[in-house]
Amino acid sequence: MKLTPEEQDMLNGKYGRATRKAMDIITTLGEIYGAERLVPVSSVQIAGVSYHNLGEEGLQFLSELAEDGQVRVLTTLNPAGMDLEEWQKHGISADFAKNQQRVVDAFERMGIITTCTCTPYLVGNLPHYGESVAWAESSAVCFANSIIGARTNREGGPSALAAALTGRTAEYGLHLDKNRMAQVKYEVTTDLEGTVDFGLLGQVIGERTKNAIPYITGISRATTDELKSLCASIATYGGVALFHMEGITPNRTTIPDRIETVTREDLEQARQKLDDADASIDFISIGCPHASIAEIATISRLLDGKRVSKGKTVWITTAKPTKDLAIKMGYYDKIEKAGAFLVSDACCAVAPLKGRFSGLMTDSAKACFYARGTNKFKTLIRSVEECIKEAIE
Ligand code: F3S
Repeated sequence: MKLTPEEQDMLNGKYGRATRKAMDIITTLGEIYGAERLVPVSSVQIAGVSYHNLGEEGLQFLSELAEDGQVRVLTTLNPAGMDLEEWQKHGISADFAKNQQRVVDAFERMGIITTCTCTPYLVGNLPHYGESVAWAESSAVCFANSIIGARTNREGGPSALAAALTGRTAEYGLHLDKNRMAQVKYEVTTDLEGTVDFGLLGQVIGERTKNAIPYITGISRATTDELKSLCASIATYGGVALFHMEGITPNRTTIPDRIETVTREDLEQARQKLDDADASIDFISIGCPHASIAEIATISRLLDGKRVSKGKTVWITTAKPTKDLAIKMGYYDKIEKAGAFLVSDACCAVAPLKGRFSGLMTDSAKACFYARGTNKFKTLIRSVEECIKEAIE
């Protein structure tokens, strides 16, 4: 692999131990995947932030890099295991909070912006079409590649951090035009409306297509919130990091010969897989991926003057800058006055919630996946309106 003199200097340790280690990770990956060179990245998004998933070993790795490592490009974080300011009222233990803060502090020492969100594109980490980035959160990777038209592989936590410390990534996979062409055409024969429908579509296509790149037709309109729901589920139920949607997404592609259809019946079958008839709902969570200010405005209107029922806990999860805006607009007060929580910097999948609840209602197909797999909750997938109705009845 060809390195520029500066990249060679990084590898030789001229810029310190952390940069050398990071360049070692990047070049090793490049060798494995047959990259011919490195490309500059304009931003990074790092996953593996929750102490719940990272543990002491991961924290040790970060602390070592933080001794002399400094990021070279705009870098943000994926959700942590707790709201970094209001964790106490969400039932997080002081012990966990202390350790989570140590993780965030280590990232901060490296110059990383410690807003913890899976929707960095909503809060200032927004690449443009064609730009190379190195992002790790699977839903954000899919959004960056598909909706924005930026270029990123699905990075792991260490490789994303290495890209941040060097400002480079190896040029392979989705950084190359030839690997971004659609492979299977999915004709959607039913109208879609809302985050649930789009999440179910992602579930159906993800399960069928696995890692192949879909070309989706039959959808005449989609909102940003619907598309982020689709990106989350298609990446969760398959390994999809890029899709094309006729008339909606910006990337150029050839049209595949292989055609499959997705019907309303397919979506209903997908919904049934996420619905546990015996679920007893004690937890309602909206904001997977993190809620936009428009979604929070809708939820605050639905909760205004209402009261969350006894025995139910409601989390609306979002990015901290979005929460700040919600505070300014009075949405936070309406939500919290009703007894729900507007939780920033965390989400229901990476917070330490196992054993606290038995049944989750959510509008997110991805949240159902992790609630079942990681937390062993039963699940029901419903629209935002139905979720709030369940919370207050
Ligand atoms: Fe984001 Fe957590 Fe969902 S990271 S996509 S809210 S599982």
